[in-house]
Amino acid sequence: MEKKWWHNKVAYQIYPKSFYDTNGDGIGDINGVIEKLDYLQDLGIDIIWLSPIYCSPLADQGYDISDYYDIDPRFGTIADLDRLIEEGKKRGIGIVMDLVVNHCSDEHEWFKKACEDPDGEYGKFFYIEDYKDGDSLPCNWRSYFGGSVWEKLPGHDDKIYLHVFHKKQPDLNWENPKLRKEVYKMINWWLDKGIVGFRIDAIINIKKKLPFSDYPVDGDDGLSSIDNMLKEATGVGEFLNELADETFRKHDAFTVGEVFNEKDDELPLFIGSHGYFSTMFDFSAESTKEDISPENYKKAVFKAHERVDGIGFLSNIIENHDEPRGVSRFIPKEDLDDTSKKMLAGIYFLLPGLPFIYQGQEIGMENLDNVNDINDLDDCANANIYETALHEGKTHAEALAHLINVTRDNARTPFQWDDSKNAGFTDGKPWLMVNPKYKNINLAEQINDSHSVFNFYKELISLRKNPEYESTFVYGKFVPYKPEQKNLLAYSRVGEKSVMVIANYQKDAQTLSLPSKIKKVLLSNTSKTLDNSSFNGTEIVLSPYELLVVEMV
Ligand code: NOJ
Ligand code: CA
Repeated sequence: MEKKWWHNKVAYQIYPKSFYDTNGDGIGDINGVIEKLDYLQDLGIDIIWLSPIYCSPLADQGYDISDYYDIDPRFGTIADLDRLIEEGKKRGIGIVMDLVVNHCSDEHEWFKKACEDPDGEYGKFFYIEDYKDGDSLPCNWRSYFGGSVWEKLPGHDDKIYLHVFHKKQPDLNWENPKLRKEVYKMINWWLDKGIVGFRIDAIINIKKKLPFSDYPVDGDDGLSSIDNMLKEATGVGEFLNELADETFRKHDAFTVGEVFNEKDDELPLFIGSHGYFSTMFDFSAESTKEDISPENYKKAVFKAHERVDGIGFLSNIIENHDEPRGVSRFIPKEDLDDTSKKMLAGIYFLLPGLPFIYQGQEIGMENLDNVNDINDLDDCANANIYETALHEGKTHAEALAHLINVTRDNARTPFQWDDSKNAGFTDGKPWLMVNPKYKNINLAEQINDSHSVFNFYKELISLRKNPEYESTFVYGKFVPYKPEQKNLLAYSRVGEKSVMVIANYQKDAQTLSLPSKIKKVLLSNTSKTLDNSSFNGTEIVLSPYELLVVEMV
């Protein structure tokens, strides 16, 4: 495999609005990220992905951009960002911006001009249509946040525009070469500024199956999931190849795609050595439709890595700003403690590919438990989740309980820095409620405790970067071990060294026969096992939620 500069990196996602507020307005800001750079350097981070900080009405928290060339004043200024890039560089940390180009904001000047003159140059930047036969819509697709993808064009009773996400996020028309050129110009402007790359939002959506047509209705709303259309849309690769050629490849940028629905034979095109992107997220566990059990988690993750074996690198996550907290999702509530949190961390962190940590994950932040009022939450996707639950027959209380389990707000509550007011996030009123668990789960409590979740993440990072083992963790082959053994999640990384990651993903002890003897224990989430003398044979007894990382003879 051709070696790339980013292969051995550890990345950290910052959701700036909720990270650290330096001016008391209750909103995290770029200066807050700068203030915490030493913290991130100490943790061992190489790359920061910033969720969007461009000018935005924040209808979808910045994923609705009204000016691609400027920073929203709530987050800071371009000068602040330049300083962040500089200060990051000094600490060996590269900045990755979010690239949101499937859609912009309805407050972007392109859209405003399109509304003024739908038949003019900017009208063609969007998908603007007339009602079919007077009053019917061009197609029955359901937007991701519920309801039709079509919305009346402001100022024009006879016209509608397409938005596959929120109605304040009109889709950009990638079929138009002029639009594509504008997008490439903007990307190069940012890369020239010194960012190291992009996380690429909703990129599969840029290709629509045209002409617009209906798909089988799959809900009481008479609409059809966008996925039905996406499965049939072909040709996204031509756009992506041109995009990569015109921008990323020229800069040797690091790019991580939010990619869904790719077919097996397309994988080399997406993430092969000369793929459209450097890597893409593995969402297989997060998006599994089944209940998440240890067995389902294992099946999803192992399959994902076997699928890309020899082709490219996945980016591994247990959570992001679109998901509830990973520990709350992948570990049964009654078993959630520091030991099980560390086990989950060890499993995903040492898989092939790049580990991404989402802010707060490194201190084991959990989902919200109780919220009395839906108005205490924020996300634009909430209303649809709640209404759908009511529609399915749930009571108000049940619908709220369901929402609290799944809402994206779980990941968006402010970072828990300490146990002072507002978890040390702001002196003002936080824009979103602080998770009341901050009294027990916060960085200040963990930073000097060698047994904390935080220090376990630090150990994991330094193990991955330990020169003796780095090439094995980065390039070593991934070999599942005894995948049939229930609630055992074990794999080897075989390269210069042979390392095994072994997890007992359950509350009962279990016995495991190893393929050979253990040479050295590299990491463990229980204090007892760091003493090598307990491993003389090839049979070991694993305690509840025990994780062992061992070098094999
Ligand atoms: C994916 C982003 O991660 C999510 O937060 C956003 O709502 C959609 N794309 C639309 O941009
Ligand atoms: Ca602020």
